[in-house]
Amino acid sequence: MTSPAIRHYLQFCDLSADEYAYLFERAAFIKRKFKAYEKHHTLSDRTLAMIFEKASTRTRVSFEAGMYQLGGSVVHLTTGDSQLGRAEPIEDSAKVISRMTDLVMIRTFEQEKIERFAANSRVPVINGLTNEFHPCQIVADLFTFLEHRGTDAEGKPDMARLAGKTVAWVGDGNNMANTWLQAADLLGFTVHVSTPSGYEIDEKLAFGGRTPRAGSYKVFKDPMDACRGADLVTTDVWTSMGYEAENEARRKAFADWCVDEAMMAVAQPDALFMHCLPAHRGEEVQAEVIDGPQSVVWDEAENRMHAQKALMEYLLLGRL
Ligand code: CP
Ligand code: NVA
Repeated sequence: MTSPAIRHYLQFCDLSADEYAYLFERAAFIKRKFKAYEKHHTLSDRTLAMIFEKASTRTRVSFEAGMYQLGGSVVHLTTGDSQLGRAEPIEDSAKVISRMTDLVMIRTFEQEKIERFAANSRVPVINGLTNEFHPCQIVADLFTFLEHRGTDAEGKPDMARLAGKTVAWVGDGNNMANTWLQAADLLGFTVHVSTPSGYEIDEKLAFGGRTPRAGSYKVFKDPMDACRGADLVTTDVWTSMGYEAENEARRKAFADWCVDEAMMAVAQPDALFMHCLPAHRGEEVQAEVIDGPQSVVWDEAENRMHAQKALMEYLLLGRL
């Protein structure tokens, strides 16, 4: 018997536009059932291993609660409480963990590390954030955008509504920015990127050497220009996990990259504001913006769970 090919989710571009359309619809269905307290045990007896080499609140809670809600169970590992912190090779860890579990989620440093794990895993591996990418977050962000600005007549997410939209990215050319670029390239919208000098997007890294669709992203020196006419304005911390030694230099370099009311005012009148969280009010975003009427950050955080439940189901069971 040949087993079906394992699907990993290591970068946004690992799924097709058609698969995302399915995932958004499925996430909406799963969310409706969750809100109605209806049982949805599609992954009963399945086990998710969660490996955290960096801190987390949302990713841990959303995967852990999500897996239990699907009828499965979870094993939580960190560098400090497993042999991962005592130099057991990642390849050996992958071979062992994937013999005892059905699915693995990893949050780690270099993308290369998760790729080595996946290459040695018998089960699907999901990227829960690396230095380079944060695909689960962008799935949730797009699902949230569609909930607010892109549903069809029946209230279902209509992915076609993303085409032609503009997302303004204000801040670091980091894992979130790279993932937004991959999403825009695949799903037909545009990202306006504004980063301080020295923190620009690395196109080769973001697209793995592929040439992106022309016009999928545009670079702006001034963050105000990036926000002009945007349908969504989004940002992230000035210093990502793993870069704490650069904190002081970054505080100076990023001082003008704070999403404020003036930036929101030049975006579309119905523009949304998103932030993957955790946020630092007064640094990358003004309190008036993140706590203001255009902000959808709490829906965005909640939707991590619904979107990832759809993703875990899909990787293990395919279309249902
Ligand atoms: N947005 C996000 O991934 O949050 P955590 O770091 O809390 O998991
Ligand atoms: N860019 C941030 C995202 C945190 C969810 C980081 O990597 O720390």
